[in-house]
Amino acid sequence: MVLKKIKKALEKTPKFELIELPFIDVTEDPVRPELSLEFRQSHGRKIYGIRDETGDIAAVMCFAFTNDIPKSVEEMDTMSRDAAMQAIHRAGVQGSIAIAYTVWAKKKGGGKHMVNEVYKMIKASSHLNRLITLSPLTDMARKFHLKNGAREVQVNLTTQNFEYDIELSEWEKLKGKVTEKWRNTTWSIK
Ligand SMILES: CC(C)(COP(=O)(O)OP(=O)(O)OC[C@H]1O[C@@H](n2cnc3c(N)ncnc32)[C@H](O)[C@@H]1OP(=O)(O)O)[C@@H](O)C(=O)NCCC(=O)NCCS
Repeated sequence: MVLKKIKKALEKTPKFELIELPFIDVTEDPVRPELSLEFRQSHGRKIYGIRDETGDIAAVMCFAFTNDIPKSVEEMDTMSRDAAMQAIHRAGVQGSIAIAYTVWAKKKGGGKHMVNEVYKMIKASSHLNRLITLSPLTDMARKFHLKNGAREVQVNLTTQNFEYDIELSEWEKLKGKVTEKWRNTTWSIK
């Protein structure tokens, strides 16, 4: 009985695949249609989509990678250019913060699933450690991110930033606790 219920629940869970999109029609972007495809593809920036089981793209999200939190598109442009330059010089990966500067759903519920898939990707990444938005000053953006578990970082002149905290896994938490206990034990031995 219980197994049947679990099986049913699993069957109902929609599955999405996060994919990098080589190009998109930027005029479809309801948030920042003024940003060209070239802008979205240069300086290490990336466009991601989620593909559902029918093969359709359910949502799109665009990213820049920085080492600081931008308060405007102009700041994000400069910061991600700098991070890309540093990466070339150091032969490393660029920017530890993923800035989601636009997201839109092509299918109902797509936006939420997009956030979930991107969150998983960043959590699994060894070089990205923060997921922050550069959102427009709209009620829709605010409600959407807060409802999906993000917290407000700051409200700026033309944008607002939200952060999806990358939580530690149970193993990482346990490791931290054991280390702390070990430290305390060592201190109490006289
Ligand atoms: C925001 C967006 C990505 C959410 O997509 P989604 O996950 O598929 O979810 P839904 O459309 O079911 O909306 C989810 C939540 O977003 C918020 N939202 C969506 N449309 C809204 C609107 N017109 N006004 C205010 N809040 C809105 C609500 O909190 C909503 O939850 P509710 O339906 O329980 O009220 C989608 O509405 C969209 O593409 N909007 C246009 C682009 C945009 O503004 N992007 C966000 C800023 S970067």
